[in-house]
Amino acid sequence: MSVAIRLATPLDGEKLWALAEEFLASQMEFGAPDQRKALALALKHGIDSGGAVVVAEQNGELVGFVAWTAHPGAADGEAVGFGTYVKPDHRKHGFSERMRDFAKRHLRHQGISFVTGAVRDNNIPGLASARTSGGRIVGYIVEWKL
Ligand SMILES: CC(C)(COP(=O)(O)OP(=O)(O)OC[C@H]1O[C@@H](n2cnc3c(N)ncnc32)[C@H](O)[C@@H]1OP(=O)(O)O)[C@@H](O)C(=O)NCCC(=O)NCCS
Repeated sequence: MSVAIRLATPLDGEKLWALAEEFLASQMEFGAPDQRKALALALKHGIDSGGAVVVAEQNGELVGFVAWTAHPGAADGEAVGFGTYVKPDHRKHGFSERMRDFAKRHLRHQGISFVTGAVRDNNIPGLASARTSGGRIVGYIVEWKL
């Protein structure tokens, strides 16, 4: 499966939002609160400001994304992890790992050294992939030192 990992652009808009909707539905199944508004803002702000909104693309279709962005007013060196998603038929091929590696490199260049995200304790794939990518799990929080 040849998949390109790259930064999202405004041209990805609708396709990216379709993936984001799938991600939001997956998180609701784990009992997470509705983050629709926060994710929409994070994707828009992240793309506009050159944050780490990273996508995985295969044959012109988006099959996954990572949204790690620093908000306006965020503490120096810190970003928020709004989510990582891989379409079900593309899972367990290392794509979340590759997208997070890309996001880490991108943010390091911007002087970001810390990312905080959230993962529910019943989300086994989410917890496993967070750990593999070097995340430290503290309750529902995941911390990545870049
Ligand atoms: C979590 C998710 C992003 C993982 O994506 P993925 O591309 O399948 O993950 P990778 O193939 O890169 O695997 C990364 C690590 O997680 C582990 N992993 C992935 N899925 C797993 C599963 N179902 N059970 C156990 N471990 C799993 C892999 O074994 C790998 O660890 P290893 O290299 O130490 O073996 C994907 O399952 C998903 O989109 N889930 C729905 C959205 C979500 O819950 N996101 C996380 C919260 S933000």
